[in-house]
Amino acid sequence: MVEPLRLGIAGLGTVGAAVVRLLTAQARDLAARTGRAIVVTGVAARDSSRDRGVDLSAAKWFEDPIALAASESIDLFVELIGGDEGVARKSVEAALSAGKSVVTANKALLAKHGLELARLAESHRVALAFEASVAGGIPIVKTLREGLAGNSVARVSGILNGTCNYILSRMELEGLSFAECLADAQKLGYAEADPTFDIGGFDTAHKLAILASLAFGVKLDAGAISVEGIEQLSLADLKAAAELGYRVKLLGVAQRTPHGVEQRVHPTMVPLSSPIAQVMGVTNAVTIDADAVNELTLVGPGAGGMATASAVVADIADIARGIRSAPFGLPVEHLASAPKTPMQRHEGGYYIRLAARNHIGAAAAIATRMAERGISLESIVQRRTAGEPDADVVPVVLMTYATTEATVREALDAIVADGHIAEKPQVIRIERE
Ligand code: HSE
Repeated sequence: MVEPLRLGIAGLGTVGAAVVRLLTAQARDLAARTGRAIVVTGVAARDSSRDRGVDLSAAKWFEDPIALAASESIDLFVELIGGDEGVARKSVEAALSAGKSVVTANKALLAKHGLELARLAESHRVALAFEASVAGGIPIVKTLREGLAGNSVARVSGILNGTCNYILSRMELEGLSFAECLADAQKLGYAEADPTFDIGGFDTAHKLAILASLAFGVKLDAGAISVEGIEQLSLADLKAAAELGYRVKLLGVAQRTPHGVEQRVHPTMVPLSSPIAQVMGVTNAVTIDADAVNELTLVGPGAGGMATASAVVADIADIARGIRSAPFGLPVEHLASAPKTPMQRHEGGYYIRLAARNHIGAAAAIATRMAERGISLESIVQRRTAGEPDADVVPVVLMTYATTEATVREALDAIVADGHIAEKPQVIRIERE
């Protein structure tokens, strides 16, 4: 008879309560699948009196998550506290150091301390599992680490933040303001405690750092990622994109280039006909380009209690079965360094929206500055604003064929210096595939 796997769960918010609910509902099947019972023997949460709609009467309450993590009464510590320092970090370190496996959904902690924690897990020969840290219910960690082990990955890209995708979808489809959509995302529990993590692109960057490490065998390094958020996007850009046959998404992209592994997070125009453009609301999607499978896209819920709990429980089940993978696919000592590749070297198409002064020669001068640098224009549109036939400033929207970021920035500097435009240019990178 195999002993039950005893869990200590720290953090009983939306995800923690959902994990207990799933473990209870699936107890019999999980025991059959893993060959042993899974029981929650310890919990730590801020408020022990709150009714979470789950039965925790058999579990011991711990005031201190760190004491729970090191307790003899558990075999596996489940960290659902959040935050990249403090109790979350200390409790995970305490559990690993005490020879207990850890399951966490904490992407910020992993992005900052993932390598050290993986080293600690390796040295104590225990598991550090984090399926729930990226793309909620989509099993992307397992897909990259195990499912595609026979492939060489060229590119991983995706919509990794449900809050941003929800905001962009509602702004575009309902013409709502950024602030209204963000407030709704917060109400629905999608957004981080500090929503600048979402809208500034940092949450996507944390997740991308994890995916890049798994996909390319590189050391996890969020500092190697160029990050731009969605705060500067306007409804005008979303509408212009739609008119041009594109949709704007906040994408995280990691790809092999001749200069190294390029890692970037920024608003991106994707063709309306592409699979990624169809992904709306809080849904996440990850596309992997790899030699043997060619292209694979996984789409699913990126946030929310039950979806995230599904990933947490999958990790718990693996550990119950005795599976212990190297956290990032390779032992830490075999992970390569991936220095930051400057965005100036990025190659691709660009959408540029300029507020041009409405005088003779402005559009021609803009096109000339582009041509002087060998930038080929796919389209250039200047439109009077409805109801303002004599406006002093008019929007000019350009789409370029593939060029480098450095060339585009040089051309824009020259256009600004010419005095033809009234506001800072808006630039959005295009991914045509
Ligand atoms: N704030 C995150 C999101 C939650 O919006 O996707 C899931 O990581």
